[in-house]
Amino acid sequence: MTNADLCGGQTVLGIIGGGQLGRMTALAAARLGVRTHIFTPETDSPASQVAEKTIVAAYDDTAALKDFASGVDVITLEFENIPAPTMEFLSGLRTVRPNARALELSQDRRHEKDYFRSLGVATPRWLPILNAGELVQAMEFLNGPAILKTARFGYDGKGQARVRPDSDLEAAWNSLGGVPCVLEEFVPFESEISVVVARKANGETAAFNPAMNVHRDGILRTSTFPAPEMDVALIEQAQDITRTIAGAMDLVGLLAVEFFKTADGRLLANEMAPRPHNSAHWTMDACHTDQFEQFVRAVLDLPLGDPSAYRHMRMTNLIGDDINAVPGYLANPQARIHLYGKTECRPGRKMGHVNEPLPRTLAE
Ligand SMILES: Nc1ncnc2c1ncn2[C@@H]1O[C@H](COP(=O)(O)OP(=O)(O)O)[C@@H](O)[C@H]1O
Ligand SMILES: [Mg+2]
Repeated sequence: MTNADLCGGQTVLGIIGGGQLGRMTALAAARLGVRTHIFTPETDSPASQVAEKTIVAAYDDTAALKDFASGVDVITLEFENIPAPTMEFLSGLRTVRPNARALELSQDRRHEKDYFRSLGVATPRWLPILNAGELVQAMEFLNGPAILKTARFGYDGKGQARVRPDSDLEAAWNSLGGVPCVLEEFVPFESEISVVVARKANGETAAFNPAMNVHRDGILRTSTFPAPEMDVALIEQAQDITRTIAGAMDLVGLLAVEFFKTADGRLLANEMAPRPHNSAHWTMDACHTDQFEQFVRAVLDLPLGDPSAYRHMRMTNLIGDDINAVPGYLANPQARIHLYGKTECRPGRKMGHVNEPLPRTLAE
């Protein structure tokens, strides 16, 4: 993409997926004069409300995919569970960033953890599980509290069951539908942090600072920057690991890596996502360049912006009925409110988020 293309307002970014991450990417793209086209099976999606055009079709509708590809310059995505044949088809028509390998690795916890191991990135101890018998054996091996997770399609704590050596393991296995799983040791972490790195096709990277993440019922509740009690060495280590993971799969776009920080100061990689991440929404109101603009810059091969923060921030997700708190947040002139345009409110559904500046004293 050249600067001249941008000035002409002719650049079109295609986004697969119509959720809030696509919506906020489209808004950032619009600031740069870039139009967006959305491909999603969902009608009236959060992203389509703010995009120039939406194609509503199934992921195996090749005519619709062709139509989508022909109208855009570059294709990116806002969620990673896009079927491999869809990715393959689109890659034959247009540049797709991130690449199919990044998706394949992040779609399956087994591939993801094997990949981390191949790069020397520490993870919680884990075992692949294909049946209830393997679960019993793996529990004997881990010999302590653990979490059974479906290998694929888990998000917001869905597809997980906490188990102990004396749990009814058959019931736990059945509760997740008898699909391939991983069993992970339960990590009594001191805190959870995450790092988002932007990477361009030429290998250039820019890392955001880590935020501390607090989950409730498996769903991210708050992200706080700066993450308390993180020394510079640990911050750099988390950023270096994230850069390494992105570079080794030649990812172009954004990569988020979630870590557990142990009491003895170790970082264990939990999972990754090749896209903007909920735990970096604080960057929208605290960094010179936020994650969504950086994402657009990276996939369109524009110069990366400055990811550094100019103030401290706490992001709070508005989940389900939390949406009723919006009038209160509106009454706080400091609060930056981001709503996703979802018409139906359901328990556990992310409806929006609020960024609230913190007094600078936290990190000083
Ligand atoms: N091995 C573990 N030990 C302790 N807590 C965990 C472990 N795995 C997951 N969790 C908790 O559950 C949350 C959601 O799990 P995660 O693996 O990130 O799945 P999801 O794809 O749903 O985000 C984590 O952020 C963490 O709070
Ligand atoms: Mg997670």
